[in-house]
Amino acid sequence: MQQDERKICHDSDSVGSGGYRRPVTSTELRTERLLLRPLVAADRETVIAIQTDPRTNRYHPDPPTAEAAKAKFETWLADWADDGFGYVAVIETTTGEFIGVGGVQLRQFEGEKILNLYYRFRPEFWGRGYATEMASAVVAWAERELPYPIQITVSVENTPSLRIAEKLGFTAYAESVYAGIPSRHFRR
Ligand SMILES: CC(C)(COP(=O)(O)OP(=O)(O)OC[C@H]1O[C@@H](n2cnc3c(N)ncnc32)[C@H](O)[C@@H]1OP(=O)(O)O)[C@@H](O)C(=O)NCCC(=O)NCCS
Repeated sequence: MQQDERKICHDSDSVGSGGYRRPVTSTELRTERLLLRPLVAADRETVIAIQTDPRTNRYHPDPPTAEAAKAKFETWLADWADDGFGYVAVIETTTGEFIGVGGVQLRQFEGEKILNLYYRFRPEFWGRGYATEMASAVVAWAERELPYPIQITVSVENTPSLRIAEKLGFTAYAESVYAGIPSRHFRR
């Protein structure tokens, strides 16, 4: 897979709270078929539609309301301002379509700072390898640029998502009930 990176870490003089050279401006990654760019306010309605679509919540016992999805979206925008990175908009290059959201988010997991790897795509675009393509590019970038372990936490019943974790070369290291869902935790 081709991967072209632009402005990954430009103006990286400032030092984040973890003591690393924190990326402080936009991150834009390109893969063979996708553009991965920072989320912006104009993405709000598109992201809420993806987050509340019943088809993307098949393994979620308590799907978010539009209000809850909006509140979460605002925190995702804030991540970019606070951390210099966060979840990305996934754009299909040939059509310009916004096809999904994903990437890494800095969060606390059992007292440890980790990068949570996430993916949620519009069902019309499933089954084409797009989530794996997005995640591979983000993982390569994050492993190079950020000093935190990358973790994937997936419902034990979410077969497609479990499959992606395996395809990315992640290994299950624990299981627990996380946010009310029996989950498997993966790292590389
Ligand atoms: C999970 C999700 C992002 C996958 O997107 P995608 O672009 O279709 O994923 P990919 O095409 O890269 O890979 C999916 C893999 O799961 C496999 N898969 C899909 N449905 C499957 C099923 N029902 N049973 C077994 N494997 C399945 C695919 O065959 C593929 O593996 P392969 O390449 O070995 O054939 C998408 O289904 C989604 O948005 N789901 C809802 C949100 C969600 O559950 N996110 C995860 C939260 S942790």
